[in-house]
Amino acid sequence: MKLVVTGGLGFIGSNFIRMVLQGRPGWSVVNLDLVTYAGNPANLADLERHGGYRFVKGDIAEPQDVAAALEGGADAIVNFAAESHVDRSILSAEPFVRTNVVGTVRLLEAARALPACRVVHVSTDEVYGALTPDEPPFTERTPLSPTSPYAASKAAADHLALAFARTHGQDVVVTRCSNNYGPYQFPEKLIPLMITNAIEGRKLPVYGDGRQVRDWIHVEDHCAGVLAALERGTAGEVYNFGARAERHNLDIVSRIVALLKVRPDLVEHVKDRPAHDRRYAMDPAKAERALGWTPARTFEQGLADTVRWYVEHEDWWRRVKDGSYRDFYRTWYEERTA
Ligand code: NAD
Ligand code: TYD
Repeated sequence: MKLVVTGGLGFIGSNFIRMVLQGRPGWSVVNLDLVTYAGNPANLADLERHGGYRFVKGDIAEPQDVAAALEGGADAIVNFAAESHVDRSILSAEPFVRTNVVGTVRLLEAARALPACRVVHVSTDEVYGALTPDEPPFTERTPLSPTSPYAASKAAADHLALAFARTHGQDVVVTRCSNNYGPYQFPEKLIPLMITNAIEGRKLPVYGDGRQVRDWIHVEDHCAGVLAALERGTAGEVYNFGARAERHNLDIVSRIVALLKVRPDLVEHVKDRPAHDRRYAMDPAKAERALGWTPARTFEQGLADTVRWYVEHEDWWRRVKDGSYRDFYRTWYEERTA
């Protein structure tokens, strides 16, 4: 299997590439990544010399960069590349449209020109919008009703991916997952931000009343789902992934405070995010039934493992937080292009 993975220097993509190269001997992976602020070569430093791995620096929205990654052909493209943070999309939506929408179309077009290339398009529960406390979890049939510019750009990309499947009979599978947590997550997202701030003795900024609910899944369980969709998914179908672990934000922050034994008065309520979605929850029954996939970790176990990972990898997140990971990138890239 020749795979092109996009966004493989980010949080989920790097975990996915590691899972594939460790678990599928004989497969090769080309990683096409633009190395934005969220792309960190340190995330895959352990695999740099792996014979089945090749890195291509490039933009999924630039056809020539996509062509460079597809040189030599590909059996499948797994698209993780995205602008992924809701708060950034509120400040500036355009990069989200370019990468998430235009970039996805470029990949679909490039795959269509190949003899047989599956596209697994990785998406999110946020495309479904917000749930009230009593509504049932999202299924694949829930209408899309995105709130944030991030979610709207992902919804547009999902529609396009499914439209290409219908219109051109293309082999496209869409996966939608709930909130991920685990190793190598950029510390702008709730869980790594709270863990690293707590270790540094900084404030823990909870938006609004902190009663917003997210449905949490360990990144390796999500990656196992994407791999199952790649290997066993049906073209034109959507699969929801989640671990039936709805928790409100304050509950998560309190657990992190307890696990790290820091002062509870570090928790600080701050101004709420505009149009903050109140609740997300996924019904993963279709993926469990059709793909034979099931998450392996409980939230309590996964969170404890994740807190330990950040405690043991202080160098990784300190370099991200102080910005010096960009210097690491420059040296790394210069060595490879010299
Ligand atoms: P991330 O922000 O950590 O990583 C994104 C990666 O994409 C980075 O390596 C970045 O350099 C790369 N990238 C950005 N723009 C690019 C471009 N134009 N061309 C090539 N590469 C580019 O994101 P993540 O959290 O790993 O999310 C990966 C995917 O999973 C996204 O599509 C996201 O929507 C989806 N998703 C994320 C979550 C979550 O909780 N993080 C949940 C469900 C779905
Ligand atoms: P986030 O990790 O940004 O994921 P998403 O918004 O895509 O679900 O945020 C998760 C939840 O945590 C969300 O309800 C917003 C909230 N949050 C805070 O309360 N404080 C923070 O500093 C951050 C980053 C998020």
